[in-house]
Amino acid sequence: MSNVMVFDHPLIQHKLSVLRDEKTSVKEFRELVSEIAKLMCYEATRDLPLEEVKVKTPVAEATCRRIAGKKLAIVPILRAGLGMVDGMVDMIPNAKVGHIGLFRDPETLEPVKYYFKMPPDIAERDVIIVDPMLATGGSAVAAATFIKETGVKHIKLMSIIGAPEGVQAMQAAHPDVDIFVAALDDHLNEHGYIVPGLGDAGDRIFGTK
Ligand code: PRP
Ligand code: URA
Repeated sequence: MSNVMVFDHPLIQHKLSVLRDEKTSVKEFRELVSEIAKLMCYEATRDLPLEEVKVKTPVAEATCRRIAGKKLAIVPILRAGLGMVDGMVDMIPNAKVGHIGLFRDPETLEPVKYYFKMPPDIAERDVIIVDPMLATGGSAVAAATFIKETGVKHIKLMSIIGAPEGVQAMQAAHPDVDIFVAALDDHLNEHGYIVPGLGDAGDRIFGTK
């Protein structure tokens, strides 16, 4: 069974409270998504392996630790996941970025794939899927399935808000994928929206409503 980590860091929680507010502007919403992604990235990469290196400071030789050559890829689920990419890449500048386009059919809530482009060496990389919302879990489950088909062995999922339904769906379909969220909300409404949630993340990032 995969781990579910809820990041209760005060900075993340404070920013999330502003993000949820219906009065928050598109500009501020976009900035907050990126900032929260950056803070979550810091926590979610805590287990990256380190190796010892010797560094010559102006004073003496220091024994230091650097990330041990782990190759990473960030994969946003379009559209809303795009809002998290800048924050992630700020923290991991050498990460490559793949894109997966999925939208939820408004009637069936089933994910529909319309785009899939990964770095050529994706099978050698550890992947962090980013999408602000984990609602029914249909999109995240499908994204992890498509990414595994390329040969990727290690995947993490980072979402800002998760619903219990989505977490359960992910754990059932991909028990090997650890899930990171800033909040676990109460439930989904009859339209598949997370309650209390923040509304439609893609529309709020791109100002399409
Ligand atoms: C939203 C969100 C997730 C998905 C979550 O995308 O960004 O990708 O819904 O719902 P699920 O867990 O029930 O699959 P949406 O389909 O609205 O597309 P968009 O990002 O292009 O607006
Ligand atoms: N997608 C969103 O953008 N918001 C939700 O609450 C559920 C799915």
